[in-house]
Amino acid sequence: MTQFDKIHTVEQNFSKSNPKHLKSMFGATDLMPLWVADMDFEIAKPIQEALQKLVIRNMYAYEFNTDEVFKAISDWNLKRHKLHLHPKLFVQVPSVLTGIGVLIRELSEKGDGILVQTPVYHQFFKVIESAERKVIHNKLKMVNGLYFMDFEDIERKFKTLNIKAVLLCNPHNPVGRVWSKDELQTLIDLANKYNITVISDEIHSEIVYSNSQFISMASLNKSENHITILGSPAKTFGMQSIANGYLYIADSEILNRVKHTVESLYLGHGSIYSANATIAAYTKGEEWLDALLVYLEKSMQWIENFIQNELPEVVFYKPEGTYQVWLDFTKLNLSDAALKHLVVMQAKLALAPGDWFESTHTQFMRMNIASPLSKIQQAFYQLKKAIEAGVDSTFIEEEIK
Ligand SMILES: Cc1ncc(COP(=O)(O)O)c(C=O)c1O
Repeated sequence: MTQFDKIHTVEQNFSKSNPKHLKSMFGATDLMPLWVADMDFEIAKPIQEALQKLVIRNMYAYEFNTDEVFKAISDWNLKRHKLHLHPKLFVQVPSVLTGIGVLIRELSEKGDGILVQTPVYHQFFKVIESAERKVIHNKLKMVNGLYFMDFEDIERKFKTLNIKAVLLCNPHNPVGRVWSKDELQTLIDLANKYNITVISDEIHSEIVYSNSQFISMASLNKSENHITILGSPAKTFGMQSIANGYLYIADSEILNRVKHTVESLYLGHGSIYSANATIAAYTKGEEWLDALLVYLEKSMQWIENFIQNELPEVVFYKPEGTYQVWLDFTKLNLSDAALKHLVVMQAKLALAPGDWFESTHTQFMRMNIASPLSKIQQAFYQLKKAIEAGVDSTFIEEEIK
C-alpha cells in the first residue's frame, strides 16, 4: 500500500464532484467523477507543512515572494532537466490560462488566427475566442496508434491564413503525446519561416513516463523565433486550486510588453499561499513526484492490460505523458447519444466527452487517472459491465421514436 492508494473523501465543493456541475454537464449526480484534470491524492508533506505554517500564523500582512518562486523554478529545471532558465525572464500570472490570454492579446489583433492542434484542451478555444481571435484547427494525424503533428497542413495554413501564433500543448492534453525534439524543431522552423510566435503550454511537463523524455521549447534553437513558455506546479503537485502560473519569455521586447500589461493589471502578485507552496514543491517535492510517477505508470500498465484482455472493443492510446487517458469507443458502433447514455447512465462515470476537444471526436472520452488505482479499477469494471449489458433497451426505443 502506497500513500497514493489511500481513498480520501472527495469534497462536494470540488468542481469535479459538485452535484450542480455534474447535473448540468452529465444530467446525473451519482457518478464517479473522472472528468477534471486534477488529483485525488494528498499533496506532498513539505507543501502541507509550508501551508500549515501560514495558517497557524493567523496574520496576513502584505507579503510577496515572487523572486524566490522564480529561483525555485529555475533551480528545479536546472537540476531535473539540465535546462537553464534565467529567473529574470519569468512573469507570474494567476494561472496558465491567464498567461495565454495575456499573450494572445500582446501578440495578435482582433480577428487574427491562433493555430491549435486538435483534439486539444478545450479551454484553448475559449481563451482564444473570448479575446476575439480566430481558432485555426490543425488536426493531429493518427499513425499506427500514435498521434503526430500534420506539418503539411500547418504550413498550408501558415501560408494562406492570417495566423499570428501557435498555441502548443506539450505534453499534449488529451492525447498524451510528449513531442520529440525533431517535431518541436520542425514546428519552430516553420514558425520562423512565417514569422509566427510559438506559445508553448508546458503545464504537464513533469508528468512523463519512462520511455519518453520531455523537451522544453526553451531548450531548442530559437535564434530568430519568439517563443514563450507557460508552466505551473498545478498538475505536477496536485495544487490545482492554489497554484499560480508563470510565463517564461526570452525575447526582451515581448517580455517587457507582457510585464507592463501584467503589472498594470496588478496580476503578478500571487498569494503567499501559492508562493510558499510553490517554493516547497520545487525545493522539497522531488521524492514525492518520483513516487507519483511510478504509481501512475503502474496504473497505466494495469489499464493497458485490462483493456487488452477484457475490453478489446475499446481502443486505448497509451499516453507518453499526462495523467489523462484517451479512450476510443468507435468500435462499439453506437450513436453518439447511445455512447453517452452507456458511459454516464449505465457505467455511472463522468468522463470528459471527446467533442469538447474537437467537435468530430464524439466517439472518444478522456478519463483522468490521478486517483487511487482501486478507484480506477472500479471505473473500468463498471465500464465493462455496461458494455457487456449493451445499451438499455428503453433508451434504444426512445432513440428510434
Ligand atoms: C494544457 C493545459 N493548460 C492549462 C490548464 C489550466 O491551467 P490553469 O488552471 O493554471 O489555468 C490545463 C488544465 O487542465 C491544461 O490541461
